[in-house]
Amino acid sequence: MSFSQTMKEKAIALQKTLVLPEGLEKRTMMAARKVLDEKIAGKVILLGEEKEMVSLAGELNVDLSGITIVDPQTDSRISQYGKEYYELRKHKGMTEEQAVKDITSPLRFGAMMVRLGDADAMVAGAQNTTGDVLRASFQIIKTKEGIKSASSCFVMETPASDLGADGSFIFSDCATIPNPTSEQLAEIAIASAQSCQTYLDTTPAVALLSYSTKGSASGPLVDKVTEALAIVKEKAPQLLVDGELQLDAAIIDSVGSSKAPSSPVAGKANTLIFPDLQAGNIGYKLVQRLAKAQAYGPILQGFAKPVSDLSRGCSVEDIVVTSAITLSQAK
Ligand code: ACO
Repeated sequence: MSFSQTMKEKAIALQKTLVLPEGLEKRTMMAARKVLDEKIAGKVILLGEEKEMVSLAGELNVDLSGITIVDPQTDSRISQYGKEYYELRKHKGMTEEQAVKDITSPLRFGAMMVRLGDADAMVAGAQNTTGDVLRASFQIIKTKEGIKSASSCFVMETPASDLGADGSFIFSDCATIPNPTSEQLAEIAIASAQSCQTYLDTTPAVALLSYSTKGSASGPLVDKVTEALAIVKEKAPQLLVDGELQLDAAIIDSVGSSKAPSSPVAGKANTLIFPDLQAGNIGYKLVQRLAKAQAYGPILQGFAKPVSDLSRGCSVEDIVVTSAITLSQAK
């Protein structure tokens, strides 16, 4: 079964509540209908002004029956949500009055629905930038206990079935932390290992990537990676992890055994940790475009509750699959 179908099956079994803050965005509205029709969620909430939504639905010929419409500008929970937002932001000097005003933004309102359990998962980003979706999520949904930095991964399904996990890999971080410190790189590696277990259903073999393999080159960029490895080993001693490794040494058996013969990961890595966001973002797009890989993500990791970002170029089906991935994480 394909990754997207597996995620849909998981979500169908859970029947959780999805909030889509960009309810007045065309692809999002069409995706809401599909999510409900395919029974990927038990309940779908679209945020936006009802009259506008009904008018857009008419234009798109989308049947809104069964979809819950919530207007964040007039909803009865504004004051409750505003108070909670004030509690979260008062250390930054926010007033209660401002918090009540700010919480009516759909992204914040949706994130608060997830925080307070009025929805189980949020998907946004068809209209808003990644930065905006992430900020609302960082500030309101927050990270899981023990995790300082949330990050993201992609599930990459490549045609190279002799590599990784039958051709599939976790790539991280390709969308969230621009220039991670060693500590953040270590958190990204640990979270990505969990994502490998969850999404690829296999034992993670984590490679911290670099332009150097096991001391073949040196410099501050390499040091950052080796420092991250030391932190991962301390925090997750049971994890199969190694670095710094060049990409070919990480995934190609013959290169791994020649360049890093004593590495437990070289040649068989299925979870690839890029040293920064430029490498990660360029890397996944290269593999997607040149190797014709399927790229699922960015799947956010490390948040206290399920939330996902979309590319603004996403298709309706991308929103449906991302919704399934996100809902499959709901407890
Ligand atoms: N985990 C948890 N919290 C975080 C993280 C993180 N990784 N990063 C920032 N925060 C917190 C900050 O501590 C801050 O909290 P506070 O307001 O309580 O102090 C809050 O989030 C907002 O931080 P800002 O200072 O406003 O934003 P920051 O400068 O840290 O940037 C941002 C956050 C915008 C998400 C930045 O990391 C970013 O631009 N990332 C790249 C996004 C992107 O454009 N990706 C590529 C496109 S996606 C694609 O191609 C698929």
